[in-house]
Amino acid sequence: TGSDQNKAPGSTGGAVGMNVRDSIRQPLWLLAELTYACPLQCPYCSNPMDFASVKKELTTEEWINVFRQAREMGATQLGLSGGEPLTRPDLIELIREARNLGFYTNLITSGVGLNADKAKEFKEAGLDHIQVSFQASSEDLNNLIAGTDAFQHKIEMAKAVKAAGYPMVLCFVTHRQNIDKIDEILDLAINLDADYVELATTQYYGWAMHNRDQLLPMKEQLVRAEAIAHEYQEKQKGNMKIYYVVPDYYEDRPKACMNGWGNVFLTVTPDGTALPCHAARELPGMELPNVKDLSIKEIWEGSNDFNRFRGFDWMKEPCRSCDEKEKDFGGCRCQAYMLTGDPAMADPVCTKSPDHHLILEAIENGRQEAEKPADIAKPLVFRNPKNSKEICGL
Ligand code: FES
Repeated sequence: TGSDQNKAPGSTGGAVGMNVRDSIRQPLWLLAELTYACPLQCPYCSNPMDFASVKKELTTEEWINVFRQAREMGATQLGLSGGEPLTRPDLIELIREARNLGFYTNLITSGVGLNADKAKEFKEAGLDHIQVSFQASSEDLNNLIAGTDAFQHKIEMAKAVKAAGYPMVLCFVTHRQNIDKIDEILDLAINLDADYVELATTQYYGWAMHNRDQLLPMKEQLVRAEAIAHEYQEKQKGNMKIYYVVPDYYEDRPKACMNGWGNVFLTVTPDGTALPCHAARELPGMELPNVKDLSIKEIWEGSNDFNRFRGFDWMKEPCRSCDEKEKDFGGCRCQAYMLTGDPAMADPVCTKSPDHHLILEAIENGRQEAEKPADIAKPLVFRNPKNSKEICGL
C-alpha cells in the first residue's frame, strides 16, 4: 500500500546499565504484513525487492495464533498491513479475532478493494481505525505513481470510512515528485473533511531505495513544504491534525528507529518470518525465525535476530561513547547496513558518523537526477511481481 512507510511507534525505551536479558520488554506493537499481494505498484514501497519469491502466506488459523501469542505477551496495537490487506478474503475474520483478543486494530490500506459495506462490516467486527493512503492530490499524478487508476475510488473510500464512523485518517507519502503540491494535498484533505493527515516522508528501504535518485527531494523543496505544512497546522488547529515528518536524510541525528531494536516492535511477514522491523530480512547473518516453527515468546526473547542489536553492547564508535545513544540507539540498523555494508555502524544520517558523506552524496545524486532533461532521466521502477522477478533473478 506504500503506507507501510513510517510505522515506528512513539515512546522512548531501552534500559541503561542492565544486561540485555534483564532489559527485554514486551512487544507492544504487532505489525501483521498479511500479504504481499497489492493492486498498486508504488515505486516507494518499503516491501522487499524480492517479495515475489514469497508464495505461501500464513493461513487464517496461523495468523490468529500469532495474534493470540503476541497479545498474551502484552501487545496492544495491531497494524494490519501488506501489500494490500484487503486482498485477504479472511480479513474480517482476522479483525474479529483481533478485537476479541483486545487489540487496538488499525487497517493500513490503499482503499482499493474496499467498499462502503465492507467499511461498515469491519466496524461491526471491531476495527478501530482505517488509514487510507493517497499517492498525490491530483488524479493524474496519483494514478501515475500508483500504477493504476485508483484516485476516484480512494476519494470515495475516504468518505465511506468517515460515514462508517471511523475518524478519517489520510496518509500521503511524500517525495520529490509530489512534495511541491503539499498545499494541494492539504486542501484535498480539508475538502474531504479529514480528521488526521500524515505527510509521511518516503523512507529509503526496499523499492524506495531502488528508486532513491528519482524520489529524494531537494533541500529547497523541503524548506518550502515544511513552511506550508506549518502554516496549515496553525490554520487547522482544533480541526484537522497534520503530522509532518522531516526526511531523516536532512537531519543531523538519526531517528530512533523502531524505538530501539527488539524493544517494542514486532513485524510478522506474509510467510510468517518474525522481524524486529520491516526491513531486517535484508541484513546479513539473520536467522529469520518463523512463527510456524517457534513461539512468539521464543522468538522475541531467545532468538539471535531479536537480541542482536538490543541494548548498547553491540555498538561501535562513535555510538558507543555518544551521550545521545539512549535517545536514538545509533539510528537505523537497516539503513546503516544498506549504506555502509555493516549493520553495526552508526546510521550515516548522523553527522558524527564517519560515513555521513554517503548521505550527502545521495542528496547530490538526487539533485543531478532531478536536473536531467526528462528524456534522459532514470524512469521510476514500479513495484510489481514482474519487476521483482527480473531484478532479483527469481
Ligand atoms: Fe530501522 Fe530496520 S528499518 S532497524
